[in-house]
Amino acid sequence: MKGLFLTLEGIDGAGKSSHIDALEALFKARGRQVTRTREPGGTPIAETLRTMILTQPMDPLTESLLVFAARRDHIVRVIEPALARGEVVLCDRFTDATFAYQGAGHGFDTAVLSALEQWVQGRPLQPDITLWFDLSPELAAERLAGARLPDKFESQPVEFFRRVAAGYAQRAAAASRFVRIDAGQSRDQVWQQIEAALAARGLMGSR
Ligand code: TYD
Repeated sequence: MKGLFLTLEGIDGAGKSSHIDALEALFKARGRQVTRTREPGGTPIAETLRTMILTQPMDPLTESLLVFAARRDHIVRVIEPALARGEVVLCDRFTDATFAYQGAGHGFDTAVLSALEQWVQGRPLQPDITLWFDLSPELAAERLAGARLPDKFESQPVEFFRRVAAGYAQRAAAASRFVRIDAGQSRDQVWQQIEAALAARGLMGSR
């Protein structure tokens, strides 16, 4: 069985995390082995870097280097081995988030990000499908308000998320692996969109 690399993206508060359980159950019900993971993170080293990235102020190049260092460890130890075993890898965020947050959000040089992507992802490793949860920054902020203590990114002003959202839209327009999910709909409707997208691409497999 061929491995499948599926990523979930979107601004904070867009609701992607709440669908990962259902995705895992869906693929398992169809007989697939599933590796579920996240970025930054997914290995002990990358999770340590995640804590630093999400809690400490740092300059954009340092932040980008740490994000890609975490990604390198994650790819080598978790993502590539799982894909080689023919598993479905469900990853909560990947490199699109770096272009959206560090690039579009913080205005960091995307040429440097592309160079780092080449170094870190080699051949290059890209997701087979990316579910992009598209939600207006205002609605996302409402959903996040009071939900929990915001981390370094979640406490950014709504203008930051407007730039991040525009960054995602730009990435999505440039690659056919993106599926836009209208995240402003109800949870059930969002799930229906996800199922329809997987079915349309022949990714559901047989029962
Ligand atoms: P998130 O995925 O939203 O996890 P949680 O639901 O636990 O908050 O948090 C990760 C944060 O890291 C998110 O605000 C986006 C940010 N991030 C980047 O800035 N660059 C990256 O490359 C990645 C993967 C995430």
